[in-house]
Amino acid sequence: MASATLLKSSFLPRKTEWLNTARPNTNKSSAVVFSVRAGSYADELVKTAKTIASPGRGILAMDESNATCGKRLASIGLENTEANRQAYRTLLVTPTELGNYISGAILFEETLYQSTTDGKKIVDVLVEQKIVPGIKVDKGLVPLAGSNDESWCQGLDGLASRCAAYYQQGARFAKWRTVVSIPNGPSALAVKEAAWGLARYAAISQDNGLVPIVEPEILLDGHHGIERTFEVAQKVWAEVFFYMAENNVMFEGILLKPSMVTPGAECEEKATPEQVAEYTLKLLKRRIPPAVPGIMFLSGGQSEVEATLNLNAMNQSPNPWHISFSYARALQNTCLKTWGGRPENVKAAQDALLLRAKANSLAQLGKYSGEGESAEAKKGMFVKNWSY
Ligand code: 13P
Repeated sequence: MASATLLKSSFLPRKTEWLNTARPNTNKSSAVVFSVRAGSYADELVKTAKTIASPGRGILAMDESNATCGKRLASIGLENTEANRQAYRTLLVTPTELGNYISGAILFEETLYQSTTDGKKIVDVLVEQKIVPGIKVDKGLVPLAGSNDESWCQGLDGLASRCAAYYQQGARFAKWRTVVSIPNGPSALAVKEAAWGLARYAAISQDNGLVPIVEPEILLDGHHGIERTFEVAQKVWAEVFFYMAENNVMFEGILLKPSMVTPGAECEEKATPEQVAEYTLKLLKRRIPPAVPGIMFLSGGQSEVEATLNLNAMNQSPNPWHISFSYARALQNTCLKTWGGRPENVKAAQDALLLRAKANSLAQLGKYSGEGESAEAKKGMFVKNWSY
């Protein structure tokens, strides 16, 4: 009988299909069945994506821009200085067991070039723990002209050369977060703009050796029920995959970072983890090809425990993709509060981070029980118009 590994490899396109086929193929006898691109990095992209999507592991998102990091530091009474950001990021990357649960870390540009307080390159600290360094490459949201309080995401100008430089610096995957708002529409223009931007970024990242982690965040804001989120998510993901295919993105070398399908934050009817899992898996099955190796959810303002319970519910039976986490708030919240900016609390704060990382690792394996969680970890973190 064929082994699981052999079966898995049969999903991969033939090597010839990974080549950039932008120019027409005139040799009829060797006609390519479908076009995907990734050029010379194809093998490496597939390997990187599979490493990140490895059993029992997920992504630590620590890519808050300096402005957003400042807001988080302010919440514990610290000033937004480079030294304080460095101290916090050092705390996040140095717990010794982190690599057991975390396979990738998304960094803000400052951190990609930053050292720990002990003078070690943060990228090196991650690689030693077998954690793949990633980088936020979008340049944030601006108002979408002619639309009702909707946004579009900037950052395509100069993206190819930035990706090439980030690769040189050790990054191997790249995040682009754009948002879709349900109460403000979403208008057809906003969805198309979000999908096209994601597709262009995904193609450019692959051309430069970085695995794109594709993030159209459907914001939690709103009074709508879970059905409405499901409807919008179907529309958004249909367009994202349509434009990624048009841009010849190689699906074996991408990761996704979706929102879970939940009711709006202000909806009176709450959903159980089983309901969230049912709707979210139905969405994924309808929209996401099995060629995609990993689906790494954002937490979006859910409480730490809620995000873990929902992930666990999605992993109760086998899925065609690795279903895991790429949380910022739902991994960092208790950790940050426990630290409070005091050197004597670093160990306790790192333990708090490891506790969440381990809980989500168990949830990736479908083995999280939810027992013994603190009141802090159960607190919701929804903030209107949250940004990175
Ligand atoms: P949250 O888990 O806080 O929603 O983070 C999402 C994100 O995009 C950070 O990279």
